[in-house]
Amino acid sequence: MRDMTETNLTEAVLDRLGGATDPRFRQVMTSLLRHLHTFVREVELTEAEWFAAIQFLTAVGQKCDAQRQEFILLSDTLGVSMLVDAINHAKAAGATESTVLGPFYVPGAPELPNGTNLGKDLPGEPTLFSGRVLTVDKKPIAGAQIDTWQSDAEGFYDVQRPSPFAMRLRGRFRTDTEGRFWFWTVKPTEYPVPTDGPVGDMLARMGRHAFRPAHIHTMLSASGYEPLTTHLFVAGERYLESDAVFGVKNSLVVDFVPHTPGVAPDGTKMSRPYSTVQYDFGLQAAK
Ligand code: BEZ
Ligand code: FE
Repeated sequence: MRDMTETNLTEAVLDRLGGATDPRFRQVMTSLLRHLHTFVREVELTEAEWFAAIQFLTAVGQKCDAQRQEFILLSDTLGVSMLVDAINHAKAAGATESTVLGPFYVPGAPELPNGTNLGKDLPGEPTLFSGRVLTVDKKPIAGAQIDTWQSDAEGFYDVQRPSPFAMRLRGRFRTDTEGRFWFWTVKPTEYPVPTDGPVGDMLARMGRHAFRPAHIHTMLSASGYEPLTTHLFVAGERYLESDAVFGVKNSLVVDFVPHTPGVAPDGTKMSRPYSTVQYDFGLQAAK
């Protein structure tokens, strides 16, 4: 085919998918190409704008390294990550809802005994996080793994601090025979997603703030159950209504209960104020 025009070009490009043997790939590419071409036609993209878009995507790629994933941040801030989540994680009653993974998960956090203090010697309010991992009909799951990570009291993840980072505020715990887990940490605070890259420039240009409400990340897994990636958000904190990555769900907003000094529920003697947060996670059986 020659003499491509604004009207016949899309069909000509789609015709070239004739050799694609994977039906799902073909379906996804057909839709992507149609939407992409429609978008370009609809806004009548100029050459300067097209080149600016190429430069933007190039900068997003160049910002990525072993610790920084600017493409995930782009997907998160455009709401695509939560859309994929919503489509793929319709939850059965009794199963905890999922939310974004985010760019700060690091595999291989240390496996630690229940009761470990992840926030030892760190600034911030000590917080006892406890709960159970249950089936959707509320039976305990023994031996479930809870992988947790969070920012510090100043709103930074370990990987955002000068290296070498030492798996700070990260750990993996296992539930006991009654499905229980518990560990100490520090109460998380709100923080901005990284704004020192092209996604930060994009947010500024959109007139958006970059903040996420205070939260603790968890990734749960147990043999025979669907894995779960989620967070718990601190009730009453700022930005719950305007999370920069659209990740807040009501069922994940929990009270961090303040306490005066005294003996904590796990028997720890606390000489300063602390919080407790209690949450039972529900996992649905693997399909
Ligand atoms: C996070 O909560 O770690 C996060 C999620 C999405 C984008 C940036 C950070
Ligand atoms: Fe986070």
